[in-house]
This record gives sequence, C-alpha cells and structure tokens, in this order.
Amino acid sequence: MAERAKPRLGVAMIGHAFMGRTHSHAWRSAPRFFDLPLEPEMKVLVGRDQPRAEAAASTLGWAEVSTDWRAVLEREDVHLIDICTPGDTHAEIAEAALDAGKHVLVEKPMANSVAEAERMHAAAQRARPQGVHAMVGFTYRRVPALQLARELILEGRIGEVRQVRAQYLQDWLADDAVPLSWRLDKERAGSGALGDIGAHIVDLTYFLTGQRFAGVSGLLDTIVAERPVAEQAGAGLSNGVAGAERGPVTVDDAALVTGRLESGAPVILEASRFAWGRKNAMRIEISGSRGALCFDFEEMNVLHHYDATTSARTAGFTRILATEPDHPFVDAWWPPGHGLGYEHGFTHQIVDLVRAIAADEDPRPSFEDGLHVQRVLDAITRSSGAANQWTVVHEFERS
Ligand SMILES: NC(=O)c1ccc[n+]([C@@H]2O[C@H](COP(=O)([O-])OP(=O)(O)OC[C@H]3O[C@@H](n4cnc5c(N)ncnc54)[C@H](O)[C@@H]3O)[C@@H](O)[C@H]2O)c1
Repeated sequence: MAERAKPRLGVAMIGHAFMGRTHSHAWRSAPRFFDLPLEPEMKVLVGRDQPRAEAAASTLGWAEVSTDWRAVLEREDVHLIDICTPGDTHAEIAEAALDAGKHVLVEKPMANSVAEAERMHAAAQRARPQGVHAMVGFTYRRVPALQLARELILEGRIGEVRQVRAQYLQDWLADDAVPLSWRLDKERAGSGALGDIGAHIVDLTYFLTGQRFAGVSGLLDTIVAERPVAEQAGAGLSNGVAGAERGPVTVDDAALVTGRLESGAPVILEASRFAWGRKNAMRIEISGSRGALCFDFEEMNVLHHYDATTSARTAGFTRILATEPDHPFVDAWWPPGHGLGYEHGFTHQIVDLVRAIAADEDPRPSFEDGLHVQRVLDAITRSSGAANQWTVVHEFERS
C-alpha cells in the first residue's frame, strides 16, 4: 500500500551566499537523514540579481528564483521565509513575512537594533495565534557536544554555575589590506565583531546556563579604522579585491565584556576578528560548584568535563567524544568517532524548526530569546560609549 504523502512545507530563502549555502544544504539534507513530520519543498530562491540567483538556485537545489521578496510573500505555496541577508534587512522582511502568515527563520543577530528586534518580536506574537512560528538562527545551539553540555548542566553534573568565560576568535581581518565589506559598515551590520560573532557567545551563555544577563561592562575597539574599498565585491566567502580608494570602518573590530548573569555569576566574553591563527575558535568554559565543562569549536565533536567530586589524585578533564548514538542528533548520522561538521548544526536547526512547526510548539531560540541577545549587545555598546560604565540589561532579585 502506498504511504500517505506528508504535508508540504514550501520554503523561500532570501540571500544565497555564505548562509544561503549552509541553509540550502540543511533544507536538502534534513528530510533525508531525519524523519520529519512535514516535507520541506525548496520552492523559491530570492536574490537581487536574476542571473546570479538563477545560477545559485541551480547549484543549491531551488526550484525557482525571484528578485522580489514581497511578491514571494503573496504565494500560497510558500509557508516559510528563511532570511539569510545582512542585518539591515532582517526586521523589514521578518515583520512583513509574519504579517503575511509565513513562518520565519532569521539569521543572527536577529536585528541591528533593540527597536527593530522589539518590532520583530511583536510581529511574532501577533502571528502566533494563527499557528505561525519564528526562530533565530543561533546555530551553535545545535552542535551535539554543546547540546550535551546543556543536558549535563541541567542534570546538575557541574552543580551551580559559578563562572562563565567565552571567546569567539577569528583572524580574517587581522591583515590591514583586507578590503571593506558590509560586515564593516554599521548601517548594514549594526555592529562588528560584537554582533557578528559576540552574539553567538552571548546566546550560548544564555542557552547553556539557562540564565539571562543582568548587566555588562563593555569595551569595543576599532583596531584598523580605514581600509581599501573593494574594487570587486567578494563572492561567497571571499573578502573581495581591494581597490586604490580607501574608506572608514564604522564598526568594532574587537569586543571585551565583563558581565553578570541573573544569579549574579560573573561572565567574561571576548569577540575578535584580529586573533591571528584562530579561524573559528568559539570557546566556552563553565565552572560550577561540582565541576566544569569546556568546549572549543575548532574541535567541535569534543566536550571536556571536569568532575570535582572525584579524588584530586586522579581528577582531570575527561575528553568526551560526542559522537555516540545517544548523543543529541548523532544517531541519524555516522558510527561513533566518525564526526560531524559545521553544516550539521544548520541541518539540526531545520529538523527542530520543522518538528516545532508541525507540533505547533514554539521553536527556540525564539524572537524573545533573540531580543534578549540584542539587549545585551546594545548594553555592551552603550557601556563602551560611556567609558565602560556598568550597564543594566535586566533587573533581577538576588537570592
Ligand atoms: N549562524 C551563523 O553562524 C552565521 C554565520 C555567518 C553569517 N551569519 C548571518 O547570516 C546573515 C547573512 O550573512 P552571510 O555571511 O550569508 O553574508 P553574505 O554576504 O555571504 O551573503 C548575503 C546575501 O544576501 C544578499 N542580499 C544582501 N542584501 C539583500 C537584499 N536587500 N535583498 C536580497 N538579498 C540581499 C546578498 O546578495 C548575498 O546573497 C547575516 O545576518 C549574518 O550575521 C550567521
């Protein structure tokens, strides 16, 4: 007997460069490796330039292309809008999509300002009673080793969280000759290292500890204030070709932050795109009353756990290879030890999103979660502008 066809989830994706490629891969592979309740259909790829969008659609597996995202919102066969464009477009597209009754997945940071993030959150709340869902793409939440870290913290394996230290280090701007791009333009990106990579460690601290930030003190610095204008824009992941003309960098190159969680636990964060030799070193270490957890994305299948309840004579960090079938998401993939990569976090993000939509449950990180991260980024920026003054994010009662 023929199996009943699954209900379809028509998807349109806007933007087709770096994140567009990772999301396309995720939409293609999620239903092939996981049993999903809905069948995603890669309907429309939206770009600004028709020939480039057509070439990308054919490579990435989209059925049609459009250069008008507003027209796509009117299509009945499109149920979800996946936003993979720079931050200055997120609020306008997400609000319009939610008001048109479409589910939204938006890349991080959710917006370029708190005001925009508040509008997006309000739109998500307006749409929610119609069964419409919204999610922010903080993809590192879906790395198996980091999901395992969350589980261990919830199980009490490190006791009460006492301190968090996190870094997100890259080096692609350390060379002064790298030309300007939208990521160095405040109008388009909102901020620099802070929103681009610092947003991830703010969200991860929140995700792993389950605690919001109470306050921060921040120091933002623009290390190289002027760079060549790109003569030829970078395609995909390249930085572009530098021309003779020069222009200003209007965002931070590095962000240094001290903060406190709602429990009062101190946090230290660093985001930099000037850390030579560090390619995508997203690291987090959480010290609790009974032990610690430590992760570095450059070794993304590994979680280190220190159990302080064992004898000091033999105690030490245990290296857990998070590739066992009972580790989160892993049973859909390869045998133990064969390892997952950067792209799998994006696939898992689609798996969780599609399952939440089908069950009419709220996917996380929600727009409320994204708004919290935006408030933290904003507080860091204001603090830096006020000589690192302590800046409250939320008022919490201290126990
Ligand atoms: N989750 C992650 O780890 C992660 C990693 C990198 C980037 N991002 C985020 O993803 C988003 C996109 O970044 P990216 O690295 O893919 O950038 P990118 O420059 O590689 O790609 C941006 C794409 O958006 C298109 N675009 C720009 N403005 C547009 C508009 N007005 N209408 C339609 N298309 C438009 C560009 O043509 C390009 O296809 C940003 O918000 C960024 O912060 C997230």
